[in-house]
Amino acid sequence: MQPEHIIIHPEVAPYVAHIQLNRPKELNALNLQLMGELRDALKALDADDSVRVIVLSGNEKAFAAGADIKQMAGKSAIDMYTTDQFSTWDTIKKTKKPIIAAVSGFALGGGCELMMLCDMIVASETARFGQPEIKLGVMPGAGGTQRLTRAVGKALAMEMVLTGRFITAQEALQAGLINRVVPVELYLQEAVKLAKEAAAMSPLALKMAKEAVLKAFDTTLEEGLHFERKNFYLLFAGEDQKEGMQAFIEKRAPVFTGK
Ligand code: HXC
Repeated sequence: MQPEHIIIHPEVAPYVAHIQLNRPKELNALNLQLMGELRDALKALDADDSVRVIVLSGNEKAFAAGADIKQMAGKSAIDMYTTDQFSTWDTIKKTKKPIIAAVSGFALGGGCELMMLCDMIVASETARFGQPEIKLGVMPGAGGTQRLTRAVGKALAMEMVLTGRFITAQEALQAGLINRVVPVELYLQEAVKLAKEAAAMSPLALKMAKEAVLKAFDTTLEEGLHFERKNFYLLFAGEDQKEGMQAFIEKRAPVFTGK
C-alpha cells in the first residue's frame, strides 16, 4: 500500500534514497500513521542493497512541528502505555544505514527528537529547533532530555527544555547540534550531496562505523574501544576491505559492493 503521509524518492543520487515527511498543512506533525509509515519505509530501505544512505526531510516551512498534539490531547496514561506509541521510535533507531536529516523551518518537540535520531544534519538558515513540550504541561519523551543534552551540553539543553525557547540554525551549529547551515534554497541539495559522498563508501563499513560512533553514547570508553576494534577486525571479512586497500595501492578509485 502507498504511504499517505510520507513520500519516498527512490534514487535521488547513486545509492541515495530520500524520504519526505508530507503532512504540510499540519507542519508535518508526527501522528501515529506517519510514524508507522516512516518506520516501514526505513525498514525497507535498510534491507535494500540499492540504497546505502537515506536522506530524511520535511518541507521548507517545517521538518516536523512535533508529535501530533491533537491526537495525543485526550489520551490517558493507560492509553499511552497500551498503545506504546513511542516504541515505533525504537525501530527507527535500529536503522543501520546512515540517515541524513535535511531540515528547514520548524524542528520542534518530537520533530527535533526525530532529527536527533539521524546521523548528520544539514539545516537551512530558516531552521528553528526547540523542545517546547514544557509549554504543553509535559516534557520531551523521545530523547529530548538525553540526546539534546549530549549534543549541546547541560546549559543550553536545560534552557531549551525548561523554557521551550527555540534556537536558530546558527545557534544550533555553534552548539554542535547540526553539521552545517546553508541558504534555504540549497538545504536539500546540500544534504543529498553529503549523502552522495558517504554513499560512495563501502556500505558495510558505513553501517559498522555508524554503529561504533553511536556506541560512544551509551557505554564506557573501554567498552566502546573494544567494540570499535571488533568492528574494525570484522571488516576484514568483507571484499570491500580488500578492494579499498588494493585500489589505494593501484592508485585507482575503489568499487565497493558491500560484499
Ligand atoms: C498537531 C499541529 C502541530 C502539532 C502545528 N500544528 N503543530 N498539529 N500537532 N505538533 C497545526 C496547527 O494546529 C495548525 O493547524 C497548522 O499546523 C499550522 O500551524 P500554526 O500554529 O497555525 O502555524 P504558525 O502560526 O506558523 O506556528 C507554527 C508553530 C506552532 C510555532 C510551529 O504551530 C506550534 O507551536 N506548534 C506546536 C509545537 C509543539 O508544541 N510541538 C511539540 C509537540 S509535543 P490548523 O488546523 O489550526 O490550521 C511533542 C512530544 C514528543 O512533540 C514526544 C515524543 C514523540
